[in-house]
Amino acid sequence: MKNYNFSEIDCIFKFNNCENLKDFDLPEFCFTGRSNVGKSSIINSLLNKKKIATTSNKPGHTKKIFFYKVTNSFVIADLPGYGFANISKKKKEEISELLFFYLTKRKELKRIFVLVDSRRGLKSSDKSFIKLLQKYNLSHQIVFTKFDKVPPSSEKNLLKNIENSNVIMQEKIIFSSSKTKIGIKEIRKEIISTVDNEN
Ligand code: GTP
Ligand code: MG
Repeated sequence: MKNYNFSEIDCIFKFNNCENLKDFDLPEFCFTGRSNVGKSSIINSLLNKKKIATTSNKPGHTKKIFFYKVTNSFVIADLPGYGFANISKKKKEEISELLFFYLTKRKELKRIFVLVDSRRGLKSSDKSFIKLLQKYNLSHQIVFTKFDKVPPSSEKNLLKNIENSNVIMQEKIIFSSSKTKIGIKEIRKEIISTVDNEN
């Protein structure tokens, strides 16, 4: 497995319109999930940065697509969230359209990381989203976030929620935290093995 320096960011681009999305011609990975689940925070952890991606405790913070080109080898995309967000209906519709276009039409998109808050488990919006990815045959990996917030006494409930969800078909699920950094290595490994397979 090749060694990639995730801290080496070549450039950052942001877009709020599907018509002028930049193509990088490199394997691309995106982070999706309900608003506030921790997408931007996970990207900061992956890239070893404190706040290259801005975060907020207010849901609906990321409203554009942010591309991070890393060590000239791959691209990481931070996406707006779905589900609850304190933004206008019109803005929500614009964001849904942008997300749908990006996820279904992006040529170089190799894997979609679907983030789910460990404390909340899979919500109906997550299940619908995962079903949509399955319908379009889009390669995805489920990652539970904020695992530092789950007390050992609640771990069983989370596992039950996963078991009963009927949507997770993969064998592997990643449990992660941007605070303790658990799971970050596993996400990096997923990215590296996909990039290596492409070369
Ligand atoms: P939107 O852009 O609004 O969709 O949110 P997001 O999914 O990008 O979430 P973001 O990374 O902005 O994090 C939301 C809030 O959760 C922030 O207050 C973060 O500090 C907090 N947070 C994110 N990851 C973790 C984590 O692993 N553990 C804990 N305890 N808090 C976290
Ligand atoms: Mg965000």
